[in-house]
Amino acid sequence: MTRVAHAGVGGWGRNVARVVGELADLAWICDTDEELQAQYAARYPQARVTGVFGDLLTDDTVDAVVIATPVPTHHALAKQALEAGKHVFVEKPPAMRGAEMEELVALAEQHDLVLMPGHLLLYHPGLRKVKELVDGGELGEVACVYGNRQNLGVIRSNENALLSLGVHDLSVILWLLGEEPSEAVAHGMDYLQDGIEDVVFCFLRFPSGKVAHMHLSWLDPHKMRKMTVVGREKMVVFDDMELERKVTVYEKAPWEPAETYGEWRTRTGDIYSPKISTDEPLKLELQHFLRLVVDGPGDHREARDGLAVVRTLDRLSESLRSTS
Ligand SMILES: NC(=O)c1ccc[n+]([C@@H]2O[C@H](COP(=O)([O-])OP(=O)(O)OC[C@H]3O[C@@H](n4cnc5c(N)ncnc54)[C@H](O)[C@@H]3O)[C@@H](O)[C@H]2O)c1
Repeated sequence: MTRVAHAGVGGWGRNVARVVGELADLAWICDTDEELQAQYAARYPQARVTGVFGDLLTDDTVDAVVIATPVPTHHALAKQALEAGKHVFVEKPPAMRGAEMEELVALAEQHDLVLMPGHLLLYHPGLRKVKELVDGGELGEVACVYGNRQNLGVIRSNENALLSLGVHDLSVILWLLGEEPSEAVAHGMDYLQDGIEDVVFCFLRFPSGKVAHMHLSWLDPHKMRKMTVVGREKMVVFDDMELERKVTVYEKAPWEPAETYGEWRTRTGDIYSPKISTDEPLKLELQHFLRLVVDGPGDHREARDGLAVVRTLDRLSESLRSTS
């Protein structure tokens, strides 16, 4: 069984650690918080517990490291782990700057190690269905994609809404469209804390002519976790707030009848929801990571996808700084 060392058991990291404990041999738990160290020492008596990340890297029996610490620590910790010869799963985003992510990808390639960013939504069965519809040509040519990720809270103080919320939707948009944007513009506003934007609007244009938009906010009355894909034949909506109808396909499209040449009409057909499995995305994501650890990183697709996301985030952050 793969031996994994896990770092960071805060609000989200505890979920990751739980699933790692179910799927692999949880050999080490690391958190700088002493209370959490005591809690986890009692919960996983077989694991070694530490507050010093370097400790778990000295253990030669550890195959892989999972990092779920705050975003500003990701790059340094992932770099140390790769340099120590460990496969790495690191929560999103693995780095705050494109150049830092390039360094991590180069290290992973050089040492033939897995570097997988925590792009959870790519493992969501609902979004897998959307990807299947896009790739299978069911929607016709895709014109645009847009994401809504809004709620009142959680208000973060060490990252803005773009970094905290945008990584999810951005990873999905780049994955669905399979290209990197030629234009990336963001506008936002820091209402609550200086320099930390609570509300961000992003526009992306791709070389193929497709466009995308993201509305990211923790200052909003609606709790929305939605992705809409508009194709020339059909349209599809993924809504993670829905319990059963996570995916809805709309047979709606523009239509130019032969007898009314030059005049566009719209066509509406069936509206249906395909069955979506209820498998836990986090479990599917970590299963994928553990499979890569056993089989090898292959063409480093996950790391390269992560690089495209961080590079685009970098451009959006730069745009945000110049327009805010
Ligand atoms: N995939 C998702 O859906 C999802 C959801 C929420 C958060 N996240 C990501 O997970 C990560 C953690 O988020 P969170 O909400 O759990 O944060 P958090 O602040 O609640 O927890 C972070 C934990 O890391 C510990 N820590 C800090 N520095 C450390 C270090 N150097 N070594 C070891 N431990 C250290 C802290 O003591 C804390 O317990 C972030 O990158 C966040 O973006 C992902």
